[in-house]
Amino acid sequence: AGDESNALRTPIVAVLGHVDHGKTTLLDKIRGSTVTEGEAGAITQHIGATAVPLETISEMAGSLVNPDDFDLPGLLYIDTPGHHSFSTLRSRGGALADIAVLVIDVNDGFQPQTLEAVDILKRTQTPFIVAANKVDTVPGWNPNEGEPIQQSIEQQSDRVEGDLNDRLYKIIGQLSDEGFSADMYWRVQNFQKNIGVVPVSAMTAEGVPDLLTVLMGLSQRYMKEEMAIDVQGPGAGTVLEVKDTQGFGTTVDAVLYDGTIRADDEIIVGGLNAPITTEVRALLQPRPLAEIRTEKQFEKVDEVSAAAGVKIAAPDLDDAMAGAPIRVVRNRNKDEVVAEVEKE
Ligand code: GTP
Ligand code: MG
Repeated sequence: AGDESNALRTPIVAVLGHVDHGKTTLLDKIRGSTVTEGEAGAITQHIGATAVPLETISEMAGSLVNPDDFDLPGLLYIDTPGHHSFSTLRSRGGALADIAVLVIDVNDGFQPQTLEAVDILKRTQTPFIVAANKVDTVPGWNPNEGEPIQQSIEQQSDRVEGDLNDRLYKIIGQLSDEGFSADMYWRVQNFQKNIGVVPVSAMTAEGVPDLLTVLMGLSQRYMKEEMAIDVQGPGAGTVLEVKDTQGFGTTVDAVLYDGTIRADDEIIVGGLNAPITTEVRALLQPRPLAEIRTEKQFEKVDEVSAAAGVKIAAPDLDDAMAGAPIRVVRNRNKDEVVAEVEKE
């Protein structure tokens, strides 16, 4: 990692796609936990944020990622629900994202919320890759736990490989119908012009090394300038959820995408009627690789730097709204900050 690594923030990766196509399972595989099992009927009902450090990424990606090639600190994943009734949450995830993973079940191909997700990505001009998930369900598939996908495909019979290719080319065709030129990721040279398709299994982790490698490569190559923020500046973020936290009253779960927030900061939060001016009482963070939505034990911290998920405890948050902006005042002009929050 280079000397300037402190000045680069974690890229935010939104995971979008149709219900049950495997978004949460894929994230579970990456963070080695099981959020899906804790969800009602395994349907994701909220947005969740999980920080995955570079060491974890390079461990999973094995030979595909050399940590010395990267000076980004890791990736912050935003899991979104695929159920049709949660379209605001999907938009919010898309709006926060620097980059996105569109998860598509290889058997189902494009479905209504796949199309909706594509529309969000077009509207927000978010670069994305496609995770063509559940390759292990192709009849006759011979699983190779955790292996890079091309290596695993080489070990399949010609018939299985043919069946997989049929499914993948159908998805590539559907992407083309939406105006995107797409191809298998290993044939893509310019990820800004072409959408890379990564065949994966969230179940067996085949292709997960590839997915992580492509995401890190994309972030590093195309977004380094955007990631070079004033990490010490007054923070900016978005409210994901407003909820009661035992011992703290009404709190907000937020994603910080710029600067820092400190335990003694004054903040302005978008409210039901007017912006709320309040002072941070406590900043709470899930353990690394834990997810803000389901974590029960939080650690009190003095400062959080972008990008990160953080639970903010402060007085007067009852009228805070999911989706509303949060700004740290610190050395800024308070009226200007209030006006900024009002405008968003
Ligand atoms: P929503 O959050 O409700 O939109 O769903 P999701 O996209 O997060 O899907 P989820 O991860 O909950 O997975 C749905 C079902 O598909 C679960 O039963 C998973 O075990 C299964 N599943 C996910 N990925 C794979 C995969 O790669 N292979 C197989 N065989 N099953 C998978
Ligand atoms: Mg889910």
